[in-house]
Amino acid sequence: MLLKDKVAVVTGASNGIGRAIVDVFIENGARVIGLDIVEIESWNPDFTMIKVDISNTADCERAYNEINTMADRIDVLVNCAGITRDAMTKKMSEEQFDQVIAVNVKGVWNLTRLIGPAMQANGSGSIINISSVVGVFGNVGQSNYAASKAAVIGMTKSWAKEFALKEGNVRVNAVAPGYTMTNMMNSVPAELLEKFRSSTMLGRLAEPIEIANSVLFLASDLSSYITGEVLNVNGGMRL
Ligand SMILES: NC(=O)c1ccc[n+]([C@@H]2O[C@H](COP(=O)([O-])OP(=O)(O)OC[C@H]3O[C@@H](n4cnc5c(N)ncnc54)[C@H](O)[C@@H]3O)[C@@H](O)[C@H]2O)c1
Repeated sequence: MLLKDKVAVVTGASNGIGRAIVDVFIENGARVIGLDIVEIESWNPDFTMIKVDISNTADCERAYNEINTMADRIDVLVNCAGITRDAMTKKMSEEQFDQVIAVNVKGVWNLTRLIGPAMQANGSGSIINISSVVGVFGNVGQSNYAASKAAVIGMTKSWAKEFALKEGNVRVNAVAPGYTMTNMMNSVPAELLEKFRSSTMLGRLAEPIEIANSVLFLASDLSSYITGEVLNVNGGMRL
């Protein structure tokens, strides 16, 4: 019960890695408010869903007000929602570039600008931003996504400094997952998945629960002296 009686907000909660984070947080005693553009039915009294487009600043403000009617404090924020719009750079449209930046960068900023200062005022909190192996090493056909996930690392390090000021005591870290079997992988050709698998030291892709467990560690007091870090959870992958 690493998160007993904690309130956690998790974006991208309806699918994949976000959904695995919700499950592992609830198993560890948290009350979870899930934010996603796709609504799922609650299956547990400790889970509440709010439908929101994280790229829309006004919609995030509306969701934040709704959260405040449900909980008097937020202990953990996981910025997990993200998208890909892959193309080689010479073929990438402005729309593909802008969509990825809007969700993966502005979406993370939209919620953290509200929840980070509230945690700081409370004097505690843990924020975990989901970056990617691609934000650390880059990748062919993903210049927009790589830019967005590198930006997540920059924001993480800035907020680790900013929200610790005035005895804020808010820890901010990033997790950079390797390739993980979720819907996001549906559009990746099988031969490319095989290439990714063989470029890991462990010889396999990740399961969502393996990423979720690392997020649990950073959310909990087990990591009480870790902030401003990027935890690579990629089976020893080198792109
Ligand atoms: N799957 C991987 O291999 C992998 C690797 C590294 C990093 N990541 C990152 O992990 C995170 C989760 O990815 P996943 O693989 O679980 O993907 P996924 O597609 O299974 O889940 C993403 C979730 O985000 C939600 N979402 C998308 N746009 C949204 C918006 N505008 N507002 C609110 N919610 C929105 C989707 O509805 C979905 O539920 C993403 O940030 C992704 O970039 C994934």
